[in-house]
Amino acid sequence: MDQCWGEDVYRGTFAVVDLRAIRWNLQNIMSRLSPGTDTLVAVKANGYGHGAPQVARAAAAAGASYLGVASVEEALKLRAAGIQTPILVLGATNYEGAVVAARHDVEVALTESCLAWPQVSADMIIRGHLKLDTGMSRLGLKTVDGCRAFAQWLKTRPDVKCVGVFTHLACADAADLTHAERQMEQFRSLRNALAEAGVRPLRAHAANSAAALRRPDWHEDMVRIGISAYGYAPSRAFALPVALRPALSLYSFVTRVEALAPGETVGYGATFQADRPCRIATVPVGYADGYPRILSNRSWVWLHGRRAPVVGNVCMDQLMVDVTDILDVAVGDCVTLYGYEAPSEWRSGAAWTEGGGTEEGVQTWLRNGYERAVRMTGGTPMQPVISLDELGDLAGTISYELMCALAERVPRIYVE
Ligand SMILES: Cc1ncc(COP(=O)(O)O)c(C=O)c1O
Repeated sequence: MDQCWGEDVYRGTFAVVDLRAIRWNLQNIMSRLSPGTDTLVAVKANGYGHGAPQVARAAAAAGASYLGVASVEEALKLRAAGIQTPILVLGATNYEGAVVAARHDVEVALTESCLAWPQVSADMIIRGHLKLDTGMSRLGLKTVDGCRAFAQWLKTRPDVKCVGVFTHLACADAADLTHAERQMEQFRSLRNALAEAGVRPLRAHAANSAAALRRPDWHEDMVRIGISAYGYAPSRAFALPVALRPALSLYSFVTRVEALAPGETVGYGATFQADRPCRIATVPVGYADGYPRILSNRSWVWLHGRRAPVVGNVCMDQLMVDVTDILDVAVGDCVTLYGYEAPSEWRSGAAWTEGGGTEEGVQTWLRNGYERAVRMTGGTPMQPVISLDELGDLAGTISYELMCALAERVPRIYVE
């Protein structure tokens, strides 16, 4: 029986995750932090789609002291991968989850629901960071009275240790920082109330990427960096004070090139109709891979150094592009869906023959080509030929959502 690799290597669609870019971004960001500020790197949602354990290792190598995840399950996957960096579960955790987290040396967010937690056995301590809601209206204690009640409760709970206090800013990436300023004021007054009631946690943290980059006075004891570690700006509403390099690129290989006569249509719903003799290339990437269907007839891919428009509706596993104006497009040609331009030698046949026909060989061949083509040595960062900001604009969403959407079935090739 043929080997089953568990990942979709025969289809020829793959992502490259440039861990050099992640380390470079983090080092750039960290060099701008107020002295003594720690960095938590958000690796929730499988490291914003990039692969949580790999990003976690890159973050630790860059000097990060904490990892942030959304759930205890995400934390356990990191522990199972041998990651020993302190982890904070940023979202709400139920009592059972908090007990499991404590067993694995994982810290949890302490929220209003903790007050109903039963006592755990004497030899176990749940370590947590109290979450304060200062304007997100999502999670956490909101009022001075709530903080006082928490302080009273904490005194009765030797099994719960509050080692941090944090809030999350809703508008730190906006042109106008008034909302974020109000949140920071509220954060300080709630912390004062806690301190008066005897709760003085070790770490206070509020800043996400935008706040960390824009407001050194909001760094507190730790910043929580997500999107900018992955090389994207939190928004285009303010000028980035640091250079960032996107880490994620998505590639595939053309599986078919076919002529269309005027009047013929493309894809489900026949939403594209040829108004001239056309050539249509098929690319095996679809919405089940994380390429949104909303991009049907809106976006483009990069092929032979040119933009080729996506025509017809994006299917679950494939999409079609109009290559009428691009000479010599052939089956096996490499397509860049987003990220850095594919190296010119990348063709699907070459990947198999020169890579020796094994999964590892193919991946090494592709990795070596990428490393040669996408240089990461100082100076001006290379620009992606198609960025997730651009696709986000076309899809009516943000880069965050597109990177998180990259499906599990898409193999990731890691460049160290
Ligand atoms: C609680 C919390 N902190 C930090 C971050 C990181 O934010 P960003 O990716 O904008 O840096 C997130 C991401 O959503 C978050 O939910």
